[in-house]
Amino acid sequence: MKDDNFLREMNARHLWQPMAHPGEAQRNAPRIIRAAEGVRITDIDGHSVVDAVGGLWCVNLGYSNDAVKQAISDQLWQLPYYSGFAGTTNPAAIEASCAVTEFFAEDGMERVFFTSGGSDSVDTALRLARQYHRLRGEPARTKFLSLKKGYHGTHWGGASVNGNNRFRTGYEPLLPGCFHIAAPYTYRNPFDESDPARLAEKIAAAMVDEIAFQDPSTIAAFIMEPILGAGGVIVPDASFMRHMRAICDRYGILLISDEVICGFGRTGDWTGARHWGVKPDLMTVAKGITSGYFPVGGVLVSGAVAEVFESADARGAIWTGYTYSAHPVGAAAVVACLAETLRLDTRTNAAARGTQLYEGVRRLAGKHDIIGDVRGGHGLMTGIEIVSDRAARTPMDAATMQRIHQATYEAGAMVRLGGHNVLMSPPLVISEAEVDVILAALDAGFSAA
Ligand SMILES: Cc1ncc(COP(=O)(O)O)c(C=O)c1O
Repeated sequence: MKDDNFLREMNARHLWQPMAHPGEAQRNAPRIIRAAEGVRITDIDGHSVVDAVGGLWCVNLGYSNDAVKQAISDQLWQLPYYSGFAGTTNPAAIEASCAVTEFFAEDGMERVFFTSGGSDSVDTALRLARQYHRLRGEPARTKFLSLKKGYHGTHWGGASVNGNNRFRTGYEPLLPGCFHIAAPYTYRNPFDESDPARLAEKIAAAMVDEIAFQDPSTIAAFIMEPILGAGGVIVPDASFMRHMRAICDRYGILLISDEVICGFGRTGDWTGARHWGVKPDLMTVAKGITSGYFPVGGVLVSGAVAEVFESADARGAIWTGYTYSAHPVGAAAVVACLAETLRLDTRTNAAARGTQLYEGVRRLAGKHDIIGDVRGGHGLMTGIEIVSDRAARTPMDAATMQRIHQATYEAGAMVRLGGHNVLMSPPLVISEAEVDVILAALDAGFSAA
């Protein structure tokens, strides 16, 4: 390993980062995170903070889960790689497929297609949705519906159903045939509706209107996050996803639940769809499936959808996939991670600590006028919308957001900025005392605004 001077000097010289301006990164070098333990990360200067981001909504088990590390290490010595394409598979992948489908059985999922991450999973799910309708004799069903503010990764399909133009405009034109419905975002919405249940009904009506306009026989699938994560932790009313399920059923549209963040306990339930009492047709997962220790994603397939593929003629073959689909090391990580997730019952802690974090931030809102909206209360996902004028709900400027971020970090917690939102998704194993550290750091951060 090179010395610290080398690392500081070379930091962003050759490395372009996702979601970052490469010139800005050279002027304002990113923090170098050198080590982690438990739920804490330590930077190159030796400053240690509680990681309220959980890596990137993914390190659900914290950084010190020896069982997952050991499983990865053992598998590297047993079989570091072999192709998972037609004709060959590996023992770890078979075991992982059983563990994953068992985990999602209550959601009605019976098959899994492994990928290398969330964006892969979303693109695969969109493809499978189109193919499903072709196999059933409805090849005109090619369009996709999704929510504004939703985030579904950055492959062409995922970016096309994404509901935030930051990830779209530089790369347009995107996939044709993708249409967006208003988000269940009570703080700002085109209906001027602040009641969550009424807003859910209005969006459901708008969805039906859009489907009628497009012609239902042209729509393949609707994709949504059960709680919208990267878009600002937007928590819909409990009725929202059930409305969407009913509408999809009425018009023969597949419902894809994007569980890349919500899956594996983050909402306080094992899946976001289960949290709202909905059974989707397809689910996309990644992140918490390995606690971020190895890049793995997957598409979960319901029994009814699987049957259409498995009973089809040659057209049922899946002509998509990745070199690292069902990677043995990733699969070993999945098996160990799911066993640890269940053993530690992370959803229960996520629910309790999530409430603590949410209530704590709501108390901070009584002290800091710059807090416009606090969203969460359903597991360990909390979003804080920062405004410069509370009455006018004016989004806070970027320089102030950076100041808040820096001061929070100096005071002991790493948080994430999403525009003028502070986003938090700590490891699900976080303790009560560690949540208090985050709250105290936020207090200091907001005081520095
Ligand atoms: C809901 C959702 N879907 C998909 C993705 C894309 O996952 P990845 O970054 O692993 O490609 C993300 C990433 O944050 C996500 O939050």
